[in-house]
Amino acid sequence: MNEFEQMYREVILDHYKNPRGHGVLEHADAEADGQNPLCGDEVSIYVAFGEDGETIDEVKFSGRGCAISQAATSMLTEMVQGRTATEVASLDKEELLEEIGIPLTPVRLKCAVLGLTTLKIALHKAKGTPLPEGIGDLELN
Ligand code: FES
Repeated sequence: MNEFEQMYREVILDHYKNPRGHGVLEHADAEADGQNPLCGDEVSIYVAFGEDGETIDEVKFSGRGCAISQAATSMLTEMVQGRTATEVASLDKEELLEEIGIPLTPVRLKCAVLGLTTLKIALHKAKGTPLPEGIGDLELN
């Protein structure tokens, strides 16, 4: 492992141990529960919009899962704060993967995008926009 990978690993571990945005929003404007069918791990996402009904004012998550799924969701809550629902609903997963910064196997990739996919579903549901094709084979509630 090179120095950079080591650094990224430490950042991931820190997000896992001290998740940002962990919790529940009681009166969320958008929310969804997602489950990774491979392992059964779950993430619930809650979003509150600003006064314009479009800007992501607050985002929280709860759930249980592996370090990558929880850390990636924690990173995500920081990434999307202040951005618009429309923009985030079509966010390229590469942006999150860059933030994670270490190469991931296909199985781990599903862990990494669990929170992102759940967030996108929450936003599409709230906005009444159709879910994009192939948004992920999550089990939805
Ligand atoms: Fe379940 Fe990673 S092993 S989300």
